[in-house]
Amino acid sequence: MKRRTTRHIVQAAMTFAVPITVAALSLAFSAQAQTTAEKIARGKYIVSTSACHDCHTPWKMGPNGPAPDMTRALSGHPQDFKVPPPPKPEGPWIAAFAATNTAWAGPWGVSFTANLTPDPETGLGKWTQRNFIETIRTGRHMGRGREVLPPMPIMVYNNFTEADLEAIFSYLQSIPAIRNRVPEPLPPGEAVAKSQ
Ligand code: HEC
Repeated sequence: MKRRTTRHIVQAAMTFAVPITVAALSLAFSAQAQTTAEKIARGKYIVSTSACHDCHTPWKMGPNGPAPDMTRALSGHPQDFKVPPPPKPEGPWIAAFAATNTAWAGPWGVSFTANLTPDPETGLGKWTQRNFIETIRTGRHMGRGREVLPPMPIMVYNNFTEADLEAIFSYLQSIPAIRNRVPEPLPPGEAVAKSQ
């Protein structure tokens, strides 16, 4: 008798507990899924309003003049676009940029905009969210490598909240991966020597 009662209690408990647990779990999962989708949408919004395409998507000539080529969205300086040495700075003019808006020459040498797509070898595919956030927070590659060169506006983007940076990274990891190996920057001496 006692055994039966216990079994009944267990059964009764299960009758309630199982559906409640299932409901709670599915609620948690759908909330999670929504959060990810919302995060990506927010990241897309920030990326498209914070000029990332201006520099990280190569420009091409269109009917209304040069514009970012969205078929190569955020893939950085095109590896097959070999730029000649930059012009020598003269008078108050200290910087120059190539037609794609992805190669920049100035007192820092020549910098090439990075591939931000999730390609594992040439883009941010192997980066963690931490790597990305620490790059922006410290102005150093992955938070510990070499300094990120101008004109990457680190000082501006350092004002993003943690949630904004997480959203940007989620979006960048969701876009199509493009294989494009961006060249290493040229130090000032080298850039000047080459231009003489
Ligand atoms: C005015 C041009 C410019 C804009 C705007 C810009 N970037 Fe950059 N970014 C660069 C350049 C140039 C580099 C390469 C710098 C270097 O080699 O040190 C770079 C590098 C990076 C890197 C790689 C750093 C590393 O250590 O490998 C990340 C990540 C990045 N940018 C993200 C972004 C995001 C996200 C946005 C928009 C919110 C953005 N950038 C907007 C020019 C720009």
